[in-house]
Amino acid sequence: MESHKHPNFLRCQIQNGDSAWRSGRSRRNAVNGCVLAITAIAALSWWFLSPTAPVPTQGTNSSPATKLLEPFSWGQITPSQSLEYHDCFDGFQCARLDVPMDWHRSDSLGTRMAVAITRLPAKVPVTDPQYGGAIIINPGGPGGSGVTKALLSGRNLQTVVDSAASPAETTDGSRHRYFDIIGFDPRGVNNTTPGFSCFPNLFAQKNWELQAEADGMLGSSANSFMRNWKRAIALNTGCSKAISTPSGDGGDALGEHTNTPPVARDMLEIVERHGEWREKQGMEAQRRHDQSRGHDPEQSIFTRTKWKHGQEKLLYWGRSYGTVLGTTFAALFPDRVERMLLDGVVDADKYYTGAGPEPIVDSDAIFDKFSSYCDEVGEECPLYTPGGPAAIKQTYKELEDSLLNSSMSVLPSETRGPGVATWTDLKVVLRIAVYQPLAGFSFLADIASNLLTGDGSKLVDFKHGRRSPACPSDECLAAGPWSSPCQVAGQNELYSSSAILCTDAEYMQEADEEGFKRTWRSLQEVSSTVGDYWAHVRLACVAWSVRPKWKMPVPVTGNTSHPLLFVNNLLDPVTPLQSAKHMSRAFPGSGLLQQDSEGHCTLAAPSLCVSKAIRKYFQTGELPAAGTVCDADLKPLLGNPSKVEEHLTRSPEDGALYKALLEEAQRLRLPETPL
Ligand SMILES: *[C@@H]1O[C@H](CO)[C@@H](O)[C@H](O)[C@H]1NC(C)=O
Ligand SMILES: *[C@@H]1O[C@H](CO)[C@@H](O)[C@H](O)[C@H]1NC(C)=O
Ligand SMILES: *[C@@H]1O[C@H](CO)[C@@H](O)[C@H](O)[C@H]1NC(C)=O
Repeated sequence: MESHKHPNFLRCQIQNGDSAWRSGRSRRNAVNGCVLAITAIAALSWWFLSPTAPVPTQGTNSSPATKLLEPFSWGQITPSQSLEYHDCFDGFQCARLDVPMDWHRSDSLGTRMAVAITRLPAKVPVTDPQYGGAIIINPGGPGGSGVTKALLSGRNLQTVVDSAASPAETTDGSRHRYFDIIGFDPRGVNNTTPGFSCFPNLFAQKNWELQAEADGMLGSSANSFMRNWKRAIALNTGCSKAISTPSGDGGDALGEHTNTPPVARDMLEIVERHGEWREKQGMEAQRRHDQSRGHDPEQSIFTRTKWKHGQEKLLYWGRSYGTVLGTTFAALFPDRVERMLLDGVVDADKYYTGAGPEPIVDSDAIFDKFSSYCDEVGEECPLYTPGGPAAIKQTYKELEDSLLNSSMSVLPSETRGPGVATWTDLKVVLRIAVYQPLAGFSFLADIASNLLTGDGSKLVDFKHGRRSPACPSDECLAAGPWSSPCQVAGQNELYSSSAILCTDAEYMQEADEEGFKRTWRSLQEVSSTVGDYWAHVRLACVAWSVRPKWKMPVPVTGNTSHPLLFVNNLLDPVTPLQSAKHMSRAFPGSGLLQQDSEGHCTLAAPSLCVSKAIRKYFQTGELPAAGTVCDADLKPLLGNPSKVEEHLTRSPEDGALYKALLEEAQRLRLPETPL
């Protein structure tokens, strides 16, 4: 959102953070200091023993993933109204689906959009009896890129939902299912076009972001309100004006069509077009079959793959903001749901209207867990202070207060220039910790203990590592400020987030100074951990002035064609269990599975129990028994390498699942957007 690298309030996971596990190197934007490196158990034990994994320093060679990201460009694909897949990246397929910007416009003259779609193909052909369908994913945000999510996590998510048996081993076709994983970029996000820009070029954007960081977040100084308020007005007034200008004569304005209902409609279109595409594959396969093995009177392949016009159903896995998109879809198209798994559940009524309890109610309790785990492990926790959890909390609190009084000077190092470690910087680390305790707690303990010795270099290294300075490209310089070559896909996440959030939550646009200050104060009262941060989420929509054409009716509720499955941690910093309970009540027949851990979304900690329930749901449609609470198989700071090894080696099936979960849980990132 506005100013700092902040509210990804509804994002469960990794946006930019490359898995260090997978790639063995940290990316510029990854949270370098806490990336948990390398493969295998040896590295794991080292991770648990050393509270902060140092930045793995390796050569500058591209990881396999990034190498393959380079040659493909979305511009090579011509958008089409049917799904036409092209090979892209490494073993993926990409398509650009042509849709109307305004789904309710009845003339045919409106602006068109091209939705970027990436598909990780199932382990069996779509014509196979064991093909289970395509699961559409959304990573949260709002503003998160589903394409990126599919590229980074698609294989691990597939491991969770697919049958544990490999397709080659299965003889009984009816019991095993294998799924495609499909990620798409919502409107206003990354590779979906048209895009928009709030800055004349990337250089200007990076400058703005550095200045905002230096100004400090709300609560960082006596004049923090004024600085942030003025920034919000400058940014949001300009941004929303840019996005609400209609394209061309009689065209539509992107900003009026980036809210969630049209995106849910896009998703329905993907589902329909997938049916059409599947049928096409089926017809070809049937023809090949009939040619080589004689005419099949039942035309079984064709029958199996036939497009059910206007009746194709959605399989979906959404997290954080992705649960808003999911429940919105389920409310608008209740008879088009085949499977819907919603993890880290947003109270959609609160999200759209502002009425109801604040979502950050449990965030301080997560910080309390930090103190108690740290106390439990004793001296191995760098922030350990004798006297129990309260003493550790006090130690941290004093550190925070002293940084508020005065930042810390940090001398230049071999890799960076001079810096200052600030209260704002520490609050960022605290936020990572409560979103992703598994990796974040030890990271916080390490940074904090370093600061306590009067050395702010670890914090400054971390801040420095997140920066990615950028010059305008030659094409951009030639075309001039604000021109389209100056728009760079994939750099707009915070602003995409606002474009979606502020038109969903129109009430946020209305704040005046006094009203905002009241909201801010009440958020501080709810949470000393993330209250100031959450106020930034509100600030991101101040002076935004765009009204959506398609407003979401509330309450968000529906009788769906198949029960939804909600999953939630017992303690989640921004999507509390009470929100999951609220939404489960709003969708009769739905299930709610709880995971006994802390952090944002259940993948914050591996749990074989939860993952097997998710697998079962996708395989059979069955919900777990009501009231089920699953353990997490790993606790922050207390991680026991022998336990990990036990899980990894217990059976090949569990080992593969556990490895996928570990990779997801360890992919530490700075949440750029709130959800
Ligand atoms: C911060 O400054 C105030 C006022 O100067 C002082 O009373 C307080 O002790 C300081 N706090 C810390 C933790 O240094
Ligand atoms: C945007 O998508 C590209 C793939 O086309 C991906 O490499 C990049 O990381 C994405 N950017 C963001 C911010 O998700
Ligand atoms: C769902 O079904 C119940 C029972 O038939 C009904 O009372 C309720 O109004 C329905 N809800 C919606 C949103 O249609």
